[in-house]
Amino acid sequence: MSESLWIATTPATNFPGLDRDLSVDVAIVGGGISGLTAALRLRTSGMTVAVLDAHRIAEGETGHTTAHLTEAIDARYRALTRNFGREGAQLAAEASRVAIQQIERTASTLGIACGLRRLPGYLYSETGEDLDDLREEAEAARNAGVAAEFVKEVPLPFARGGVRFDHQADFHPRQYLLPLAHAIPGNGSFVFENTSVVAVDDGEPCRVETESGVITAKAVFVAANVPVNNKFFLQTKIPAYRSYAMAAKVGAGSDLQGLFWDTADPYHYTRWQQTDEGMFLIVGGEDHKTGDEKDTESCYETLEEYVRRHFTVDEIRYRWSGQIIEPLDGLPYIGRNSFSKHVYVATGFAGQGMTFGTVSGMLVSDLIRGIDNPWESLFDPTRIKPIAAAVNFVSENVDFPKHLIPDRLTSVDVEGSSLEDVSPGEGKILKLDGRKVAVSRDDSGRTIALSPVCTHMGCDVHWNLAERSWDCPCHGSRFSPEGEVLNGPAVKPLAPAGTEKA
Ligand code: FES
Repeated sequence: MSESLWIATTPATNFPGLDRDLSVDVAIVGGGISGLTAALRLRTSGMTVAVLDAHRIAEGETGHTTAHLTEAIDARYRALTRNFGREGAQLAAEASRVAIQQIERTASTLGIACGLRRLPGYLYSETGEDLDDLREEAEAARNAGVAAEFVKEVPLPFARGGVRFDHQADFHPRQYLLPLAHAIPGNGSFVFENTSVVAVDDGEPCRVETESGVITAKAVFVAANVPVNNKFFLQTKIPAYRSYAMAAKVGAGSDLQGLFWDTADPYHYTRWQQTDEGMFLIVGGEDHKTGDEKDTESCYETLEEYVRRHFTVDEIRYRWSGQIIEPLDGLPYIGRNSFSKHVYVATGFAGQGMTFGTVSGMLVSDLIRGIDNPWESLFDPTRIKPIAAAVNFVSENVDFPKHLIPDRLTSVDVEGSSLEDVSPGEGKILKLDGRKVAVSRDDSGRTIALSPVCTHMGCDVHWNLAERSWDCPCHGSRFSPEGEVLNGPAVKPLAPAGTEKA
């Protein structure tokens, strides 16, 4: 099973659930770094806010990050310069830099001890075959205003050279965010947990519907990793990937004081973290498109094999996986939702969840307050970058018809016809009484039978063995064995077997 280092080493939260109708200036859907950053800034400016989290604050994707704070953007500066011009690449770098400063400033203002430290980041080659590419990347990053240079010496013993990005940072994300969340309630502002949003309607006022009350607000920020309110436009742009991480207990002197990202495919990322339990080596990677890998346990096994081959570790104490939302043109989508006046969204942070999450909280809070922000058009969710995005859009969304049509109309994924075909810990798509049924069995032997039809747009879900969840390959929604939504864009649970429409 999986458990995140960040959640294991911080106290649980216990904010109340929404139990009535309410009116605030701004409703924020999602209590991760984006929503909490925006909430605090709006609250500090004198507005009232209500933050709604479907589960617990900072336990979703924010609790399953590896928490790199960096200007080294996954898409790379050469691609960003091609897609957005030199000025766009400079703005993207600036936004990332300012976001890290914002976290430093907030931690200092609120007296938060979150272990934030400045250190270099390295994009490195393990084979040495792509050093010319990395030389060019260093130059492109420098042209974008980043303090970066090509170096032959990288502190990792197996690295053959790379790009050093100076003055990057890391921190403990929940040590930062829990005090921030506790600073929000009061004077007409609220944080609610275990409150699932089922609909967001733009208007004057906007309405946010939950199962336990309606919030009316002048503006809504959907800060839920993937928007739950934009079924047909944004979600077909943003493919979801699973990424795996593990934390191994290591000696205090083994910290190499850097953030490291290799250029392999699939790639790996490495850093160290001091906690109350001691020093940990954190390594992540083995990404795959959500719902596409049947044997997800093998992703952890491959990652562990990589860790043990490259580092001296004894116990791997924690392991977890997170959902990475990839934008098609290299930058996240942050700002006013398409066809909306007062609803804002933020998604597509790729591997820079903490950095771009902070950027989104800053940008959206400015937009809501009517303050000009130089990053607005760069991250505009309605932007169209025809050359880069069109190619990626077609290839990424090949999965939508691929999973919708064959899975629903043929038996390609049926894996059995009897409950006995499902072992403890497993989930399978069975054909029972002529219907496809998603059946899982827990360790006590109890089976749960659900409709396999994703409640977002109707693709069939697949079992994720390592996380024990039903994952949708089309836009990344995930459901618990009981059918509850773990990750959007779906907002409704999987139906009990036999109750869905044929
Ligand atoms: Fe879109 Fe399942 S997430 S159909």
